[in-house]
Amino acid sequence: MNNLFNKKILLIICGGISAYKSLELIRVLKKRNVQVKTILTKSAKEFVTPLSVTSLSQEKVYYDIFSVENESEMDHISLSRWADLIVVAPATANTISKLSSGMSNDLASTVILASNKDIYLAPAMNVRMWEHASTKENLFKLKNYGYKIIGPEIGDMACGEFGKGKMAEVNEIIKQIEIYFNNKTKNQKFKALVTAGPTLEYIDPVRFITNKSSGKQGYEIAKSFRDNGFDTTLISGQTNLDPVTGVNFIKVNTAEEMFNETINNLPADVAVFSAAVADYKVKNYNSKKIKKKENLNLILEKNIDILAHVSKHNYLRPKLTIGFAAETNDLVENSLTKLEEKNCDWIVANDVSDTSIGFNSDNNQVSIFYKNKTNETLDKMSKSLVATELVNRVITKLN
Ligand code: PMT
Repeated sequence: MNNLFNKKILLIICGGISAYKSLELIRVLKKRNVQVKTILTKSAKEFVTPLSVTSLSQEKVYYDIFSVENESEMDHISLSRWADLIVVAPATANTISKLSSGMSNDLASTVILASNKDIYLAPAMNVRMWEHASTKENLFKLKNYGYKIIGPEIGDMACGEFGKGKMAEVNEIIKQIEIYFNNKTKNQKFKALVTAGPTLEYIDPVRFITNKSSGKQGYEIAKSFRDNGFDTTLISGQTNLDPVTGVNFIKVNTAEEMFNETINNLPADVAVFSAAVADYKVKNYNSKKIKKKENLNLILEKNIDILAHVSKHNYLRPKLTIGFAAETNDLVENSLTKLEEKNCDWIVANDVSDTSIGFNSDNNQVSIFYKNKTNETLDKMSKSLVATELVNRVITKLN
C-alpha cells in the first residue's frame, strides 16, 4: 500500500552540490502520488534550475519572499500551513546556522520559522564543516527544538574529501518519510492521557497551597503524542502556558478535580502522570477569607493518589501506565519504590534539586525505570526532546 498517497510535502532545496539529488527526490515522491511544492533558496538556484524543479514537481516553484505574484497566490504562511510535512534537502551548514538562531531573511527560513509542521533536515556539507563545533551546536539546538535529522552519510565528497557529510540517499529520505506517516496512521487507534502542571489546594476562597510546576514537561508530552497521531487528552493544572491545540484540553484546579477528570477520560492505551499533584489538601478549609491573626493552624490531610488509584484499578488501568518521580535525593531508590508501590510500568525520574532541570526549566534530564528492573538515563535535553524520546519508547512498546 502506498502510504504516501496524496500527502503534501513542502521541499526546501538549499544551495549545495547535493541539490541534484533533490530532483530525484521530487521524481520519486511524484511517482508515489505525493503533492510536492518546492522552495529554492537563492544559492540553490545556482545548482538546480527552477525549470527542472517545476517540470518534475508539476507545480510552481517558490523562491522570492517579496514576489507579489507568489504572495497573492499562496503567501508564505499558507505555504507552511498547506504542507503535511516539510523536508529541507539538502540542508546546508548556512541554513542550519540560520534556523538555529531563528533567522528569517529569505522565503525558506521565513516559512520554516512560521511553520507549525514537523520538519526533517537532510544535512549535506563538507566533512570539516560537519565536524565544526558551531555546526554541532546548531544541530543540537535544532534537535532540541524538535527538528528531525536524516543523515548525513559517510563517503567520498564532491570536494574530493572523504568523511561524514554526504546527503542521505533518496531511498533513505523516502524511508524516513514513510515511517513518519506510517506512525501517524498506526497510532490513530491509540488513546493517550497526560496530566501536567501543579494542583491548587485551597485554604480559603483566595489562598491556596501549590508548587513550582510550570506544566512545560507535560504539555510537551501531550504535543508529542498529538504529533504522532494519538487521540490525546491533556489534563492540566493552572499554568501560564497556552492551551495545547489538537488535543482534548481540560483545565483543573485541585487534585480532586484532576482525579475526577482523569477517571472521566479513561480508558486509554497509555497514561503519563507528569503532574505535580499536591500530596495534601487542607482539612479545615475556610469558606470565608481568613482574617489576619497571630497564628494560623492548618490541618492537612492526604489527597487521593491519582496515579496509584488508576494503576491499581481493575479495568481503568491503561496498558502502559507511566508515572513521574520528582526527587531531591536518593533518586534511584525512591523511584524504584514508586515504581513498585504505585504499580507503574515505567517511572520517569528527575532530580528537582537542580534548578537547570526539573521544575519550570526548559530542559530536563530524566532516568527511566522499567518494571522489568532495567533502566536508562538520558542526556540533559529540552523538555520537548525528552517528550519525543519518551513517546518514541511508548510507540515501540504499544506496537
Ligand atoms: O511542570 P514542569 O515545570 O515542566 O516540571 C516538570 C516536573 C518536575 C513537575 C515533572 O517532570 C515531574 O517530575 N512530575 C511529577 C511531580 C510529582 O508530583 O512527583 P512525585 O514524585 O511527588 O509523584 C510521583 C507520581 O505520582 C507522579 O507521577 C505524580 O503525578 C503522581 N501523583 C502524586 C501524588 C498524587 N496525589 N497523585 C499522583 O498522581
